[in-house]
Amino acid sequence: MVFGVVLAGGIGSRMGNIEKPKQYLNIGNKPIIIHTLEKFYINQSFEKIVVLCPQEWMNHTKNLIQKHIGDNDRIAVVCGGETRNETILNAISYIEENYKIGEDDIIVTHDSVRPFITHRIIEENIKYAKEYGACDTVVPATDTIVCSENNQIISSIPDRSKMYQGQTPQSFKILKLKNLYESLSDEEKEILTDAAKIFVMKGEDVYLVDGEVSNIKITYPYDLRVAETLLGDNE
Ligand code: CTP
Repeated sequence: MVFGVVLAGGIGSRMGNIEKPKQYLNIGNKPIIIHTLEKFYINQSFEKIVVLCPQEWMNHTKNLIQKHIGDNDRIAVVCGGETRNETILNAISYIEENYKIGEDDIIVTHDSVRPFITHRIIEENIKYAKEYGACDTVVPATDTIVCSENNQIISSIPDRSKMYQGQTPQSFKILKLKNLYESLSDEEKEILTDAAKIFVMKGEDVYLVDGEVSNIKITYPYDLRVAETLLGDNE
C-alpha cells in the first residue's frame, strides 16, 4: 500500500502577521492546502491520503475538503505534532491503527505548502521508495553554498556540483522509518531536522529524485507572489 502524507501542522510564523496558518491562504481561488491535496487525490496509487494539521484547524480543514473535493473516504484529517517529525510520526500512528502494515508499504510525505508538485515527482517517489526504502526530492544547488561554523567567518566552501537543495516529497518504507527512529538516542532525536536524516544518520541509503525549480515552498510573503505568478502560468 502507498499512503500520501500531507504535512500541514505548522503555523507559518515566517509569513508574518497573518490571520491563519499559511497553508490556508488562497492562491488563485483556492487555499494552498487544497491545491496540494488535489495533486495527491487524483493519483490513484494512494490508498489513503492523511492530512495533518493543528488541532484547532481540523474542522476548518475538513470543511475545506468537503467544499472543494467533496465527500470521500480517501482523505483523513489527523492532528499534527509539535515538530514536523512528530507530525510524520502521528501520520504513521494513524496508518498503523487503521491498516495492517507490511515491509513494503510506503509513505510519500509532502509539505502542504508546496502546491506545485508534479505527477512525475510523485510517481518517481513511489518507485524509488519501493526500490531503495527511502528517497528525497532535490534540485541541484544554483548558488554556491558557503559554510560557517560560527555564523561570522567562512569555514568551508563545498564543491557546488555535489550540493543539492532539499524539497519534498520525502518517501519511505513505513516500518523501516519507524524502526530507525526508535533506534535513535534522545540526543540524536534533538538534532533531527529532517526525516531523511534519520536514514542518513543510521547509514541507510536515501535515493535522490529530481525535483523541479517550480516546486517551491511558500515560506515568506514574497513566495505568495511567486506562487500567484506560477499559478497564472499554468492556467
Ligand atoms: N509542519 C507540520 N508540523 C509541524 C511543523 C511544520 O506538519 N509541527 C509542516 C508545515 O505545515 C509545512 C511544512 O511542514 O507544510 C514545512 O514547514 P515550514 O515551511 O517550516 O512551515 P511552518 O512551520 O508552518 O513555518 P514557519 O517555520 O515559518 O513557522
